[in-house]
Amino acid sequence: MATRRPKGRPDRSPPRGSLLGSQVLLRPPTPEDSRLLYDWLNQPEKVSPWDRFEVESFSTTEAAIHHASEDAASLAPRFLVVLRKDQSPIGMVGYYHSYPALDTTDIWYSIMVTSERGKGRGREAVGLLVDYLFSHTRTERVGATSDEENAASVGLLRSLRFQEEGHLRQALFHHGRWHNVVIYGKTRREWEGEADH
Ligand SMILES: CC(C)(COP(=O)(O)OP(=O)(O)OC[C@H]1O[C@@H](n2cnc3c(N)ncnc32)[C@H](O)[C@@H]1OP(=O)(O)O)[C@@H](O)C(=O)NCCC(=O)NCCS
Repeated sequence: MATRRPKGRPDRSPPRGSLLGSQVLLRPPTPEDSRLLYDWLNQPEKVSPWDRFEVESFSTTEAAIHHASEDAASLAPRFLVVLRKDQSPIGMVGYYHSYPALDTTDIWYSIMVTSERGKGRGREAVGLLVDYLFSHTRTERVGATSDEENAASVGLLRSLRFQEEGHLRQALFHHGRWHNVVIYGKTRREWEGEADH
């Protein structure tokens, strides 16, 4: 039997498959989110101020989101970042099998509502994603690459105690020039060690 909600009170219960933090939750995108994600992915200065950018059609975006679960290398958003207080979407995160010859998973993240940046939302969202990957997949290492000049991304990874592992020189072309990239990683053992504290 369907339960009835009192009139005028929205259902704030987290959707199935959500990852719950104190300020934000991560939830898998639904088909209804495709338009929002398409709009976000076509805002180069918000989604990739420190990354390369390619315009995608709506149908390509929709198909990529729909088929992401079947493709370990997909760069499509895997979760929406939603504010718990009003369920409004503020960003997105993803993960992908980053190097065909290696067994490692890389993550990416973007807080798209710029007024929500700098409030700890990104840190919490990425922390939830890392916890999810170590608890629900067999990955031994979670990595991230960032333009060396992307202070917010580097700050977030350091704040989550990712280890700096190396640099790739002139590895990323965007905004008319080549950029150096820094590689960060966290091993399963490091992640397990954090849980002990
Ligand atoms: C990177 C990004 C997700 C960070 O999210 P955020 O919600 O603004 O970051 P938070 O408020 O959670 O801050 C996390 C840490 O980063 C630090 N930080 C955040 N912005 C910073 C900035 N502009 N410069 C330096 N450090 C910064 C914070 O001080 C905090 O560290 P602390 O916990 O030691 O205090 C957000 O800036 C963003 O979406 N940027 C555009 C997309 C992008 O560049 N994504 C990364 C490429 S995959």
